[in-house]
Amino acid sequence: MKVLICGGAGYVGSHMVRYLVASKHEVVVYDDLSTGHREAVPPDVPFVHGDIGDAARLSRLFAVHSFDSVIHFCARSLVGESVAEPYLYYRNNVANTLVLLGAMRDAGVDRLVFSSTAAVFGNPQADAIDETHPTEPINPYGQSKLMIERVLADAFLAYGLRSVALRYFNAAGADPSASIGEAHEPETHLIPNVLKAVLGQGAALKVFGDDYDTRDGTCVRDYIHVNDLASAHLLALEYLDGNEGAFTFNLGNGEGFSVREVIAAAERVTGRPVPHAIAPRRAGDPATLVASSLQARQRLGWKPRMASLDEILASAWQWHLEPNWR
Ligand code: UFG
Repeated sequence: MKVLICGGAGYVGSHMVRYLVASKHEVVVYDDLSTGHREAVPPDVPFVHGDIGDAARLSRLFAVHSFDSVIHFCARSLVGESVAEPYLYYRNNVANTLVLLGAMRDAGVDRLVFSSTAAVFGNPQADAIDETHPTEPINPYGQSKLMIERVLADAFLAYGLRSVALRYFNAAGADPSASIGEAHEPETHLIPNVLKAVLGQGAALKVFGDDYDTRDGTCVRDYIHVNDLASAHLLALEYLDGNEGAFTFNLGNGEGFSVREVIAAAERVTGRPVPHAIAPRRAGDPATLVASSLQARQRLGWKPRMASLDEILASAWQWHLEPNWR
């Protein structure tokens, strides 16, 4: 299979590239490097520097290669930034995705796996969020992803585009090779910030709120290893071989951990203390977000392999200890 990976220099995208190459598929990476890293793409993987909003460049790319499918990771993905700069999110995540979808249609490429997010659900109304949970995003980031999910449903009816939107809960960890990992700038995610605090890089970790209605007052999240996300994308592509439609699946481990529990696990895994202090709540954080991934397990045959929080943290720790190209 020959796959175009848009956003293959980013955190999840770069893990996808390695996973597909290891599974003997041919890949081409397309990335504007606005948040991704050229070094995260192996030197022997074809890399094209470009923006998914650039219709002419995409048209040339699709003319040169005959792709079977596209996996689309390109997006702005910070909730707080999306509230402050909604135009950026609607332009990058919605308008530019429409350019990519148009180029795919013109080139006759009719399979897509799309990076979506738990942020499409808004405030959870159930302990475990499955695909039937109402989608009522509470920020422009979640709105922008939900808009594309709706476009994909229409695109199937109008153009026959087969697609799977995968709604990730909290992507975490790093490839066991420790050659790629999470490297956002600025870093806002909990696990990298916990490990940076352990290493004394920057100030102590701020725990955003300890007065939530959870077992210890801190927010509960469902952490999922980035390579388990990658395996779900390949299964989703394979699913589209035998299934026509626009599908959505939730991806998480189905178990929630509080911020305090993540800190305790990081102390266990690293053998070092996590300097931290309680800070005010961060705007837009729901108390608890935990997935039901029963559909992905049953219909895609997906099974997470690095499901324990300690394993996820240990892989992230190896990456943070060996800075490589960062
Ligand atoms: N947190 C801290 N300190 C930090 C960073 C995070 O206490 O330095 C807390 C947050 O307040 C939150 C939890 O740790 O309670 C997890 O925060 P992350 O930023 O790691 O992840 P989010 O749950 O905010 O984000 C995830 C996905 C987004 C998605 C969002 C939906 O990364 O793409 O869930 O709410 F939009």
